[in-house]
Amino acid sequence: MTANATAEDAVERASSVQSFYGRWATLYDGLARFTPGIGRLRREAVAALELDPGDVVVDLGCGTGANLPFLRDAVGPTGTVVGVDLTAGMLSRARRLVDARGWRNVHVVQGDATRPPVGGPVDGVLASFVVGMLDDPAAAVADWCDLVHAESTGASDPMASESFGNVVLVDAALSDRAVARPLNAAFRALTVLSTPPTLQFRYDPSPHDVLRERVRTARDALRERSSATAHREHLLGVVRVTGGRIQRAVVAPE
Ligand SMILES: C[S@@+](CC[C@H](N)C(=O)[O-])C[C@H]1O[C@@H](n2cnc3c(N)ncnc32)[C@H](O)[C@@H]1O
Repeated sequence: MTANATAEDAVERASSVQSFYGRWATLYDGLARFTPGIGRLRREAVAALELDPGDVVVDLGCGTGANLPFLRDAVGPTGTVVGVDLTAGMLSRARRLVDARGWRNVHVVQGDATRPPVGGPVDGVLASFVVGMLDDPAAAVADWCDLVHAESTGASDPMASESFGNVVLVDAALSDRAVARPLNAAFRALTVLSTPPTLQFRYDPSPHDVLRERVRTARDALRERSSATAHREHLLGVVRVTGGRIQRAVVAPE
């Protein structure tokens, strides 16, 4: 495949993501907030980020902003939360939430999670239900780890004294456990309905296999870069939360 064809594919995929999520933003927002157990899952993911008041955290593929209240709670009024998403329709819901709560330190911006429009170092990166949509999840995760590892611009930067930050991935994919067969069947139906482009994904390779492979690859990439990882599974292994602790760059005092 030529470089041009690859770039065109990426543009086409981005536009299909935007039109799909743009169309379904309202429905997605309801699912993202009110699915039973989802709040607990988001809280668990944010706890895995090990944030402190005043920290800087980025939510990549933030969608309608369902993680933002938990992230804002963790960093408090002195921290910074940045949500990034490709889809304007999803972001406008996130922005409405930010405005309604009057959070001045929560920002949502349109951008590509594979080329985050934020400079490091940051204290945490969260990506929930996103890596399964990326063509090269391993490269994206490596870049996200770099955001934490990035050198501070000045020795006086308070982050220079902290030794690590965290990258946390939350995903759902087919479980490998035999006991999860009925859940896997329900998950297959949900994936077909909720993954753009809906029709194209019915072809070979199956969307579930693509999703599972991307989720696995992303986690392997995170483990490779982490000095320690924590992994938890829910719903018989369908839902996974993986956190990786990323060492900070050493900054020589000026
Ligand atoms: C399944 S939703 C997850 C939203 C949110 N993280 C959550 O937990 O509810 C996936 C989101 O990823 C966004 N997305 C997909 N590919 C992206 C990319 N390359 N860069 C930024 N956002 C992306 C979509 O627009 C969509 O809002």
